[in-house]
Amino acid sequence: MAEMRQDKNFALELDAADELAGRRELFYIRPGQIYMDGNSLGLCSKPAEKAVLRALDDWKTHGIGIWTGAETDYFLYFESIGAKLARLINARPEEVTVCASTTLNIHQCIATFWKPDARRYKIVVDELNFPTDRYAVTSQIRQRGLEPDEVLKVVKSRDGKTLAMEDILAALTEDVAVVLLPSVLYRSAQLLDMAAIAAAARERGIICGFDLCHSIGAVDHDMEAVDCDFAVWCNYKYLSGGPGATAGLYVNRKHFAMEPGLAGWWGNRNDTQFELRPEFEHALNAGGWQTGTSPVLSMAGVDGALDAYEGITMAQVRERSLKLTRYMMYLIDTELAGYGFTVGNPREDAVRGGHVALEHDDAVRINEALKAADVVPDFRYPNVIRLAPSPLYTSFAEVWEFVRRLKEIMDTKAYEKYENKAGTVA
Ligand SMILES: Cc1ncc(COP(=O)(O)O)c(C=O)c1O
Repeated sequence: MAEMRQDKNFALELDAADELAGRRELFYIRPGQIYMDGNSLGLCSKPAEKAVLRALDDWKTHGIGIWTGAETDYFLYFESIGAKLARLINARPEEVTVCASTTLNIHQCIATFWKPDARRYKIVVDELNFPTDRYAVTSQIRQRGLEPDEVLKVVKSRDGKTLAMEDILAALTEDVAVVLLPSVLYRSAQLLDMAAIAAAARERGIICGFDLCHSIGAVDHDMEAVDCDFAVWCNYKYLSGGPGATAGLYVNRKHFAMEPGLAGWWGNRNDTQFELRPEFEHALNAGGWQTGTSPVLSMAGVDGALDAYEGITMAQVRERSLKLTRYMMYLIDTELAGYGFTVGNPREDAVRGGHVALEHDDAVRINEALKAADVVPDFRYPNVIRLAPSPLYTSFAEVWEFVRRLKEIMDTKAYEKYENKAGTVA
């Protein structure tokens, strides 16, 4: 990016030169509102709406025929959506499926891949990951009659924000069976070197999985190069698949012959599924890891939302995402110097995900004032305001306007009228 400037014209110049600017037209954006919460729940797009309405209409029209009718084929919906998702992470179509929630897919992967024995039984997690991952792993350990304290190996953070690569690698000892880490940390936006972690795990005979919730749709993953064993993610953040949209699951093709830990008829081979045989015969692709019937209405939003990525590459998306956050950090550094803010995310492109983690001692109240100023931020206790400009629909002018509104809040002390109530903001 050329030398940056603080004036609004510079933002307008960036928008005018932006090759992805047209994508914004696909989304429902409330006039005047600045939406910076695309990493919690992405905005609704017109193609997502169209796909949901189409599924509803197909249900109205075809009833049970919706599954395998002449005009509709929702029976294999997970495959067509899986193929669209696979393109975004450079995986093979058969390695990706759409099912359940991120949490349940973690249960599935631990149930499948964790084969503890006397020598190798530990599961490596980190202390900064979103808690549901840890809850799922812990309950899986208990399910097997083992003690979480003896099995879990938690990589600690040195600064409370990020993980050191040396600490992750040092944790991968010969008693470790599985390592599960996030691609991008939900609070600080640190992007881990997934390829290096997966390579170390492979060398040491450790199963390696990643939670891509905070990167898919913003970071250009290359699962062929990473070559980890499994990955899970939600489709409702950057991908804008809809609130609680059905989640995503990647299973490396080298594991297709493995028996899924949690079996269900929707994971059965498609050609014999409706023979309803007593024995489970899993499909030899990621679809084999599904359990129950596809939730069509909650998959349709994902299907449509992925059309917003049609015709563009994830390299373009990532470049725009980095440009947006780089510009935001520049404006924070220059316009908001002296107001007590700290940028809590790593600054280098190679280790930064899609959001900016803005820290302030008064973050709770400032966050409230931002909401009153028609900004949608995202607060994480105790002091982080997460700001996720969407690579598909946030304009550079909105980043500029966001910083202007924040500066006004600080200058007028508009935040002082709010209570500093811990833990009250979502
Ligand atoms: C890293 C991570 N994993 C998992 C989840 C949520 O999982 P689920 O889709 O099962 O609610 C989140 C939600 O924010 C998350 O940030």
